[in-house]
Amino acid sequence: MARVIAMGIIVALCAAVGAAYAAGDVKALYEEKCSMCHDIDRSSSIKMTEAGWRETVIRMKNENGCPLTSEETEAIIKYLVENRGKK
Ligand code: HEC
Repeated sequence: MARVIAMGIIVALCAAVGAAYAAGDVKALYEEKCSMCHDIDRSSSIKMTEAGWRETVIRMKNENGCPLTSEETEAIIKYLVENRGKK
């Protein structure tokens, strides 16, 4: 019984974490992470295609050292494509 309850709590916690970005916190995440080394304007003043943002955000993470989990990376790419996207 206790195990069933514990499993339920774990599942509920995972759902809460997964939903956190969908709730619009991505903007705050983006503003926090992407203004660590340079002005946020560096990305919020330009538009790029999805491929361009993907390449840029992954470069910030892998080469420049922006501390992002792969989940955060995807959330920020999606946010940038939706808000600063170019066809
Ligand atoms: C650890 C430091 C660091 C963080 C954090 C960081 N950047 Fe950068 N960023 C750099 C450096 C260094 C450059 C210049 C070299 C380069 O373009 O890779 C740069 C350049 C840029 C440029 C200009 C690129 C170009 O081609 O002109 C953009 C756009 C950019 N960053 C967006 C972002 C976004 C979006 C994030 C958040 C995901 C971010 N940066 C987080 C270090 C960082």
